[in-house]
Amino acid sequence: MPMITPSVLITSILNPNMRIFDIVMRTEYGTSYNSYAVLGSEKVALIDSSHLKFLEPYLQNVEKALGKRTPDYLVMNHNEPDHSGTVAALLERYPSLTIIASQAGAIYLKNITNRADLNIMKVHDGDEVSLGDKTLRFINAPFLHWPDSMFTYIPEEKILFTCDFLGAHYCEPQLFDTCVSYREAYANSVKEYYDAIFHPFAPYVLKGLEKLEGLEVSWCAPSHGPILTDTCEYEHNRERYRKWATPLKRTRRRIPVFYVSAYGNTERLATHVARGILAALPDAEVTCYDLNQHDFAVLASALNDSDAFLVGSPTINRDALPPVFNLLAAIDAVTIAKRPVALFGSYGWSGEALPHLAERLTSLKCAVFGPQLKVCFTPSAADLVAAEELGRSFATSLL
Ligand SMILES: Cc1cc2nc3c(=O)[nH]c(=O)nc-3n(C[C@H](O)[C@H](O)[C@H](O)COP(=O)(O)O)c2cc1C
Ligand SMILES: [Fe+2]
Ligand SMILES: [Fe+2]
Repeated sequence: MPMITPSVLITSILNPNMRIFDIVMRTEYGTSYNSYAVLGSEKVALIDSSHLKFLEPYLQNVEKALGKRTPDYLVMNHNEPDHSGTVAALLERYPSLTIIASQAGAIYLKNITNRADLNIMKVHDGDEVSLGDKTLRFINAPFLHWPDSMFTYIPEEKILFTCDFLGAHYCEPQLFDTCVSYREAYANSVKEYYDAIFHPFAPYVLKGLEKLEGLEVSWCAPSHGPILTDTCEYEHNRERYRKWATPLKRTRRRIPVFYVSAYGNTERLATHVARGILAALPDAEVTCYDLNQHDFAVLASALNDSDAFLVGSPTINRDALPPVFNLLAAIDAVTIAKRPVALFGSYGWSGEALPHLAERLTSLKCAVFGPQLKVCFTPSAADLVAAEELGRSFATSLL
């Protein structure tokens, strides 16, 4: 049976062939659903569970780890179904299990298992549960990456369980970071995983890292990818997260102008809007992006790293166009709140693009600047002056 220490066994499932996770994440190197069993002198705890697709092998791993013992606790550090999918079945097998979760986790679990009668112990930051010679200590870690997230620490073993935090969608037959054969591939997967899962929660990432300061950790056992050891990737991954989550200190404001344009009308407005921004803020970094001419990742990061931004779209079939909505789908919902945005575009007869974009951006909690600049067909000289004026007044509103 694979183990971290003789009392902490590994019940993980390897899924080296997975290529897409949660609909949108590429997982070029597969993934693993990690889970653990802690055998205390008095009590036994399972930590995190597994994906329903792997119920049978997961239950076999648990059985093998426990031998003749039955588990007393199931600690659910986070309840996304890649970890909680097997909870209902686990409870059927071990009906006396007490589930340990955060306040939010307890609510989610009832709806995930569709059982109102779950025996759940809600824990708070710093709470401890004794397994006899081992202690489970809980560390509140909200929004890493769901409101329910927490960490579990065993001081006697110096093992920290972080669920998704510091993990990677990466799978090799060996379970520890010290055995990773393809270091560069692993480093890439850590970055892709961070970008897809944690980038939107950067302020919470910094808070989570702060909580780990000073904690003695020999192994960090996440729920995906290799187990991290203190001498190998644990320190390294924390450093990476710190670097990625720390806001860049900039002296120049970044105000990108995104647009699409079939016949060049909205594009001309974009150019004049940009001119107006620079008239008011000569130091600003103002880049015009035709959404069809740039790599999506470049556009998404220009948008999310902006101080304010503008979106231009013509109206086609009574709406803004798919590339514009695609871009808005890449918005980091947590950090975008209150971000100033202004809208412009050419239309022919009905002009719904701008009100629809305003509605979408308002629902994402952006600060939509008004009034929007709507121009009928070809912009006149006066319309171009109005476009410059939009840029100027929007930029001035940022001061
Ligand atoms: C296929 C197609 C559908 C359109 N549908 C609408 C529409 O529903 N409502 C509207 O106001 N204008 C509509 N228009 C007119 C465009 O919005 C107008 O030509 C605009 O000036 C194009 O700006 P652009 O050069 O920036 O693409 C449509 C144009 C095309 C080519
Ligand atoms: Fe998750
Ligand atoms: Fe996960």
